[in-house]
Amino acid sequence: MSEKMWGGRFSLPTDKFVEEFNASVHFDNRFYKYDIKGSIAHAKMLAKQEIISTEDRDSIIKGLNQVLQEIETGKLEWKTEDEDIHMAVEKRLTELVGDAGKRLHTARSRNDQVAVDFRMYLKAEIIEIQALIAELLNTLMKKAEAEHEVMMPGFTHLQTAQPILFAHWAMAYFQMIKRDFSRFADCLERMDFCPLGAGALAGTTFNIDRHFTAAELGFKAPTENSLDSVSDRDFALEFLAACSICQMHLSRFSEELIIYSASEFSFIELSDDFCTGSSIMPQKKNPDMPELIRGKTGRVYGSLISLLTTMKGLPLAYNKDMQEDKEPVFDAVDTIKASLKIFSPMVEKMTLRKDKMEKSAGNGYSTATDLADYLVRKGVPFRQSHHIVGSAVAYAIEKGVDLSELSMDEFARFTDVITDDIYQYITVRASVNSRVAYGGTAESSVKEQIKSAKKFLNEI
Ligand code: ARG
Repeated sequence: MSEKMWGGRFSLPTDKFVEEFNASVHFDNRFYKYDIKGSIAHAKMLAKQEIISTEDRDSIIKGLNQVLQEIETGKLEWKTEDEDIHMAVEKRLTELVGDAGKRLHTARSRNDQVAVDFRMYLKAEIIEIQALIAELLNTLMKKAEAEHEVMMPGFTHLQTAQPILFAHWAMAYFQMIKRDFSRFADCLERMDFCPLGAGALAGTTFNIDRHFTAAELGFKAPTENSLDSVSDRDFALEFLAACSICQMHLSRFSEELIIYSASEFSFIELSDDFCTGSSIMPQKKNPDMPELIRGKTGRVYGSLISLLTTMKGLPLAYNKDMQEDKEPVFDAVDTIKASLKIFSPMVEKMTLRKDKMEKSAGNGYSTATDLADYLVRKGVPFRQSHHIVGSAVAYAIEKGVDLSELSMDEFARFTDVITDDIYQYITVRASVNSRVAYGGTAESSVKEQIKSAKKFLNEI
């Protein structure tokens, strides 16, 4: 007989390398707190249902609390031969309390145990991620408020398009990241059902109370189908999808910070404590933090694709393939938390080069649309006005001047509807502040956005 907990039907001990290949305790020990919490709830339920005695329950709970303490003080060593966190905890418990420990696994399987641990772990991580997101949202809102009048060019195709407020740009990221917050909330809500008590796959013959354990462990309700409960990993996939989208937003944001801090742009300067230097070029100050965040996006997507691929061909119910579900999730958790942790202070401490931003805001004929809109207001159909302004821009490019530097006589070459009030419409500030329609870049509109952002942040 093998020494293993499951060794009864085996005549040979496990091959050493097989044991190593099979083990997950070196990474799934991250679940230790939840594994112990789940076991305590299970023991309480078993006693309440008179499946184990209250004495056994008490010694199990006492023993599990001691195991918890041993883990937290680094006294319990993770051993490959224990295979995974579930068996490592149960083995130590049994060493401590004897037979009572051996009764804990009644009406339970590692399949429902790992599913409940994983959900509890992710629920807690989501709350932490959401707190970090809220911090970044708060930083963005404050930065937008503090720099509310600074203008910059808005781009399409990375070509100057129309002037915008820096605050409008910052609040655009606020919106994206606010949606990330709610994506995590949605996925938490869907995973908030307790699989404990599903057993190996088919449920259990014991008279257990799954509503009790679900409530005890802070879940909304027990899951409805035992087969689904032990097979489902879409809660983890949804989490990874939310991480991927959020990390993609941080990556785009990073890309802009990198571009805008290049000397050719010089719109912003990242704080020295968030940059690094070069080993050879003394003048260099490199934006390594946004570059790394952009770079780490690949591994978060990789985690999502890895687990999707693991799951795609699995027959119901549990298959050992599913042990591969944890490491990608742990890596994504670590990556997104670190990225968010760096992002808030990096944005808070960056300085704006207002002069450079505002000068660039007026480059590239960025107020040409304002001239076209002016003509429309004078009765010219938009398509025609687009054409007229296009010709005026071509003329100005040829002459090497801005539209606002054309004289009335020069404007008259293109149309007779322009009067000398035109100059007040085609400044950068006028362009920005005329975009007053809901959601536009005018100062009044951005103020509304900030107001609504404050309300959101107060309510979460
Ligand atoms: N370590 C396993 C995992 O993470 C726990 C579940 C094992 N279940 C089993 N039937 N072998 O997937």
